[in-house]
Amino acid sequence: MSKVNVVLGGFYGDEGKGKIIDYLSGDADMSIRYSGGNNAGHTITVDGVKYAFHLIPSGILNKQTKAVIGNGVVIDPKVLLEEIDNLHAHGVSTDNLYISSKAHIILPYHVELDKMLEENRGENKIGTTARGIGPAYCDKYERSGIRVEDFIGPNFAKLAKTNIENKNVIFEAFGHSKLDAESIIEEYSAYAKRLEPYVTDTINLVHKALDTGEKIICEGAQATLLDIDFGTYPFVTSSSPTIGGVCTGSGIGPKDIGEVYGVIKAYSSRVGKGPYLTEEDNEVGDTIRELGHEYGTTTKRPRRCGWLDLVALKYAARLNSMTGIAINHVDTIGKLDKIKLCVGYNHKGNVSMDFSTNPDYIKDCTPVYEEFEGNFGDISNITNRDDLPEKAKKYLNRIEEVVGVPIKFIGTGAGRENMIIC
Ligand code: GDP
Ligand code: IMO
Ligand code: MG
Repeated sequence: MSKVNVVLGGFYGDEGKGKIIDYLSGDADMSIRYSGGNNAGHTITVDGVKYAFHLIPSGILNKQTKAVIGNGVVIDPKVLLEEIDNLHAHGVSTDNLYISSKAHIILPYHVELDKMLEENRGENKIGTTARGIGPAYCDKYERSGIRVEDFIGPNFAKLAKTNIENKNVIFEAFGHSKLDAESIIEEYSAYAKRLEPYVTDTINLVHKALDTGEKIICEGAQATLLDIDFGTYPFVTSSSPTIGGVCTGSGIGPKDIGEVYGVIKAYSSRVGKGPYLTEEDNEVGDTIRELGHEYGTTTKRPRRCGWLDLVALKYAARLNSMTGIAINHVDTIGKLDKIKLCVGYNHKGNVSMDFSTNPDYIKDCTPVYEEFEGNFGDISNITNRDDLPEKAKKYLNRIEEVVGVPIKFIGTGAGRENMIIC
């Protein structure tokens, strides 16, 4: 029986997960998004055309791959429809799209709450994407969320009205204008009609696919250090992008999981607030940002940039049982003269590989760096790892050596073809 392969973020997101998924879906029967919502932005460049996915698994670009939005995802129906329309405009069919009846819906009150609560955090802002993700997951766990099956069912108006009335009490208390239930219900009922044909019990669909030996891949959104449990709380997202989220967000059991590919960049980046030990908040970071075009796919915010942190990566590898690393933007880092790699944390004089998300611990750490030669030259057309320049090999070998996980994919450019398969 074939095993389910998982692609997930190794660091703070935007590592190029979409690109790896796109490659792996080439011969996959099913590609599943298991967590997060339209806070995600996965960019794929095919034949010079750039596609930005927020909710639909990138596997949709391959005709034979069923694209499943799993039960662990929170869905903004308006955004999903925009994404569907955009794919149609590019001639991409969505006949193979399946939306879980158990996924939860993001409604305008979630978005308004997200913005309002963030505003009220003052100095302590998280830097959310303001897409309503946190409030939607709150409602799910508080058990007042609206699932897709409720959304397309006869009780939607009643459920939405109750929720809007309750949220309006909060809005009023904060001096925020109240939301109009009738207009929201009317607008979103129309979206429900359009989405209904795509809705199914994806848990059954996935189980049947497993039973018949279909080739399945799971597309992580966000990343390990943004995980609600394992990330740098509270500067995290509200879901489980790590390996456990695959099981709870799709209905796949742990024994069905095969390869776990952790995607990283040859440097690092972070959007939003929170600790980031290897950040280069200076000219080096600015240079990396410009060379790597590090501006958010979803919010267009400039990404904070810095060096690759192997202490954090080792933690992510352990947490997710990573079997392979996919490292993107090796072309980008190779444009610098000198590259630094964090191979330890110095905590009050003690150097170790001990990672912790405790802000007080991180505050007292300084990164221990090794320096490598850059200037790799043009590597975009190299298809064999052995053909990489020695300087690039040395950098990649050291990453494998410290983390203890083999590199399986090397990104040498943004295009689908710019990749070395090891
Ligand atoms: P995701 O959220 O993890 O899917 O990543 P994003 O799409 O948000 O950000 C990754 C960016 O890097 C996108 O603009 C990709 O087109 C680009 N990209 C991915 N891999 C490579 C690579 O190996 N080299 C270069 N130069 N760009 C890459
Ligand atoms: P992909 O899938 C990078 C960050 C936000 C913020 C924090 C909480 O493209 O890698 P949220 O809106 O989720 O409540 O915001 O999480 N964040 C991401 N950063 N890539 C993402 O997704 C992200 N999704 C959320 O910037 O710091
Ligand atoms: Mg992204």
